[in-house]
Amino acid sequence: MRPSRLILPLLLLLPAFPVPPEAGRIPDIATIEVDATGPVHFSHYRHLEKLGNNCKQCHNQLYNIRSAENPRVTMKEMAAGQSCGACHNSRRAFTVTSNCYRCHPTREVAFAVPDIGDVVFSHQVHLSMFGCGDCHPGLYRAGGDNPRVSMEQMEQGLSCGACHDGAAAFGVAGDCAACHAM
Ligand code: HEC
Ligand code: HEC
Ligand code: HEC
Ligand code: HEC
Ligand code: HEC
Ligand code: HEC
Repeated sequence: MRPSRLILPLLLLLPAFPVPPEAGRIPDIATIEVDATGPVHFSHYRHLEKLGNNCKQCHNQLYNIRSAENPRVTMKEMAAGQSCGACHNSRRAFTVTSNCYRCHPTREVAFAVPDIGDVVFSHQVHLSMFGCGDCHPGLYRAGGDNPRVSMEQMEQGLSCGACHDGAAAFGVAGDCAACHAM
């Protein structure tokens, strides 16, 4: 039996005013899988601290506790007030129209290239110039398992070579040490 089945009857009994800490009874993190950006990890405990332990701010009006019953929502719909955007509208909480990294975590990504030297792709550097959608999912799927790309393919415009062409950004045929730890 999934834990949500056990919690449903409890939830129906909850009063509308703030209730004593319920946090121990539910898992902190609800993971929402998103192909385009990688998973979003929603923290119940953080929200319950901010919202006075009130489940009814979200359940079951905004979210059914049975994940399968929640329709997928786009960022555009969120910006118009759905799902996270019901509060993340720069009035109650930081807005969904920026702050992407606060809900969609990124990290520095290492490519192992044994003979020449490894490459670290820095999200931090690139996010000062681009949004997620400039690279995902068109150039890279954020879910991982992208095919390996050779320098020859990059020179033809794949992967890093889509921008690193010597015009939009320094070229892949030029300064090897700008990317490879050599
Ligand atoms: C700020 C909004 C918010 C509040 C407040 C909130 N939840 Fe949730 N809850 C969510 C979201 C978002 C999900 C994930 C929905 C999805 O996966 O589609 C979720 C999922 C769940 C799930 C399913 C977990 C799983 O892993 O399948 C349960 C059970 C749940 N909540 C119980 C509660 C209870 C009990 C409270 C009050 C103590 C509470 N929630 C308060 C937003 C909230
Ligand atoms: C019922 C209102 C409400 C909803 C719905 C809601 N949030 Fe929040 N959230 C808040 C408030 C209030 C804060 C604290 C104020 C702030 O940080 O701007 C917060 C803070 C956060 C934080 C920062 C937490 C920290 O570490 O301090 C994250 C990340 C976040 N929300 C993600 C989400 C995601 C993802 C969703 C949708 C799945 C969501 N929220 C839905 C009200 C809400
Ligand atoms: C408050 C949290 C939050 C913030 C801030 C946020 N997102 Fe999201 N985003 C989500 C959640 C949750 C989903 C998954 C919704 C679903 O599937 O129902 C999502 C889905 C997406 C998707 C897939 C759906 C679509 O619209 O195509 C993309 C792409 C995306 N986000 C990009 C972004 C970008 C770019 C930003 C910054 C401009 C951003 N997000 C800011 C929480 C957030
Ligand atoms: C300039 C291009 C670029 C931008 C902009 C960008 N990414 Fe990425 N991202 C990459 C590359 C390159 C990889 C590594 C792909 C691979 O592993 O083959 C990656 C990988 C990822 C991964 C998987 C990381 C892992 O652990 O393997 C996630 C998740 C991700 N990106 C999320 C995001 C989100 C969210 C944003 C916006 C806030 C974003 N990215 C913006 C280029 C970009
Ligand atoms: C969407 C376009 C785009 C993609 C895709 C992209 N870059 Fe960049 N990158 C840029 C731009 C623009 C700059 C800054 C201009 C410059 O330095 O010529 C930059 C700068 C850099 C820098 C210099 C960082 C610094 O600290 O100054 C490195 C290293 C780099 N990119 C590596 C990569 C690698 C590795 C990949 C592929 C995995 C990649 N980039 C994919 C656009 C891109
Ligand atoms: C913009 C960043 C960037 C620059 C500049 C760059 N590389 Fe790379 N290189 C990469 C990345 C990222 C990979 C790993 C790609 C993958 O595995 O998908 C790679 C892979 C390689 C590989 C293994 C794949 C293959 O083609 O055999 C070699 C060898 C290599 N680079 C040599 C070089 C040399 C020599 C230079 C200079 C002429 C250079 N690289 C310039 C980013 C760069």
